[in-house]
Amino acid sequence: MSVNVESVPRDQAEKLRQLMAGREERRPRLLGRPGQLLAEPEKAPRTRVLTVASGKGGVGKTNLVVNLGIALAQRGLRVGILDADLGLANIDIVLGMVPPYNLVHVLRGEKALTEIMVRGPEGVQVFAGGSGVYELANVAQWHLDRFIAGLRELDGEMDICLIDTGAGVGRQVMSFVDAAQEAVIITTPEPTAVTDAYGLVKMLSLHNQEATVRIVVNMVESQAEGKAVFERLRAVSHRFLGLDIEYLGSVERDGVVAKAVRDQRPFMISNPHSRAAQAIQRLADVLTARPPARPQGLGGIFQKMLRLSR
Ligand SMILES: Nc1ncnc2c1ncn2[C@@H]1O[C@H](COP(=O)(O)OP(=O)(O)O)[C@@H](O)[C@H]1O
Ligand SMILES: [Mg+2]
Repeated sequence: MSVNVESVPRDQAEKLRQLMAGREERRPRLLGRPGQLLAEPEKAPRTRVLTVASGKGGVGKTNLVVNLGIALAQRGLRVGILDADLGLANIDIVLGMVPPYNLVHVLRGEKALTEIMVRGPEGVQVFAGGSGVYELANVAQWHLDRFIAGLRELDGEMDICLIDTGAGVGRQVMSFVDAAQEAVIITTPEPTAVTDAYGLVKMLSLHNQEATVRIVVNMVESQAEGKAVFERLRAVSHRFLGLDIEYLGSVERDGVVAKAVRDQRPFMISNPHSRAAQAIQRLADVLTARPPARPQGLGGIFQKMLRLSR
């Protein structure tokens, strides 16, 4: 539309100018200088990213990520799950599906993000990290720009993304945890698991004091046991690290979990009334009750990881 601003009365012309200016501002600025990460429009929607990790392996991260993802999807959220556990990537086992491509293919420009996604139960979109995170530092800037732009597009299509990062304080896990806006750390009541969870919280506190850190105690005998484990962790984290961690909740030890793994059918679907499923629903309640004011976004977490890797 072309408007001859000079031919209309002055106040009207001013109004038109403002209108046109507003329209310009809302248009996403997609073209950056070469080598410059693409500028993000001010109010663009962003995915809420939950980085899930544990100090010790085998504490129930993958089962939690999958079933919590399903619980959130059942509430009408558009959910993504990023399997970023290099060592024991086993979302495929829990879900009985194997994403054929991963972030490495996206970073190399061979696949689009949407092409590496596999649709799971309740429409949860599952995608795999592969060694993509290790490769970030070695990828040509041109590919990185395109990758970040792709993630920003995804930010508009996904409300929440759970990242299963794996166990321990190795580089792969810490790169996600250090860049996280919201970290969820899983432990069991077992002393070795709690010690390792504290070790992970300690590493996080060195680089990422701004993160919201929430604890899940899995395989508890009772909710009271879980709360007591959390309170001990909270006290030492506050005293020795100056970090205030939050309680997300506890999940009881429940035979339906192992059965669900054997059947490759998540217990949220096969046993929605089990103790474990009800506990997962409570975790979803707590999470949805307190979203961050401005979610980090998938573009945001990867950009921060890139910044930290340089
Ligand atoms: N709440 C629970 N009750 C009983 N068994 C559980 C529970 N959570 C996990 N498990 C068992 O622990 C095993 C490891 O869980 P998984 O989610 O693969 O852990 P991680 O991803 O931390 O290695 C599962 O195969 C399952 O049998
Ligand atoms: Mg796992």
